[in-house]
Amino acid sequence: VTVPLRRIEVVRAALWASRLDRLRLGRGTCPGYELAEVSPGEAGELARAMDVPAGVVLGRLARGARAWAVWSPEAAIASWLWVSVGQERADPIRRTMALAPDEAYGWNAGTVPAHRDRSLFTSLLLAAAGVMWCEGRSVMWNGIHDHNRASQRAHASAGFRPVLRMSALLLGDRSLIRTRRVDYADPELVERAQRLLTGPTSSRPGPEALAGLATATDHPSDQPALPANRSQRRNAE
Ligand SMILES: CC(C)(COP(=O)(O)OP(=O)(O)OC[C@H]1O[C@@H](n2cnc3c(N)ncnc32)[C@H](O)[C@@H]1OP(=O)(O)O)[C@@H](O)C(=O)NCCC(=O)NCCS
Repeated sequence: VTVPLRRIEVVRAALWASRLDRLRLGRGTCPGYELAEVSPGEAGELARAMDVPAGVVLGRLARGARAWAVWSPEAAIASWLWVSVGQERADPIRRTMALAPDEAYGWNAGTVPAHRDRSLFTSLLLAAAGVMWCEGRSVMWNGIHDHNRASQRAHASAGFRPVLRMSALLLGDRSLIRTRRVDYADPELVERAQRLLTGPTSSRPGPEALAGLATATDHPSDQPALPANRSQRRNAE
């Protein structure tokens, strides 16, 4: 009897984090580009840039995921970044990330090739992280493949640092993940990263993990929040 062998797929990546109280805001986009949160009315524009059906974007917005984008001088979306709180599926490693109440997770970002290397993605990371901080989050996460140098550099420029390396053996819609802490990574972030990967339905976090949640910091109330979307910004001007 011959049993067909399935291709073994291993994803090598790392969880990167930014401590939002250390965020250095203020990096703008290139002249002529405009950065704002995507409203449901702009779902079609984002879907065009991402090359997905509009229903994908509308479905994500409807379940509470948020997107930030940079519009080019020609008024088309040139770069985007999705951000979730609560929980989010990380499809490349077949896991659902269980975020702590003070955490946010950036995912499924991209820049249209003609607009790359203009710091658009870096400015999106900073802007979205700034909004998350103003809304009471302390840590923002993202997962980056080891081969993705451009994403790593943009995250480093935006103040993110690698925390936990992962080798994920993909098994259908699940995975076996081996992790290794990054040298000199903040131990509290390493602990948070390990808990992130355990998912929402697995065993409850132990007292050590919960201790990390108790260290919430104060958030500045005088920091100006970014306008929610482009039309609100225009109205405010
Ligand atoms: C990753 C991606 C979103 C970056 O978008 P971007 O708007 O060009 O990013 P930025 O201009 O802000 O930063 C890119 C950085 O990578 C560098 N870079 C670009 N291509 C590179 C490459 N092949 N190797 C190494 N570095 C590279 C740039 O010089 C820049 O670094 P610097 O600011 O230190 O000079 C874009 O390349 C992309 O859409 N890739 C495909 C999808 C993807 O990988 N998404 C991210 C998933 S985490």
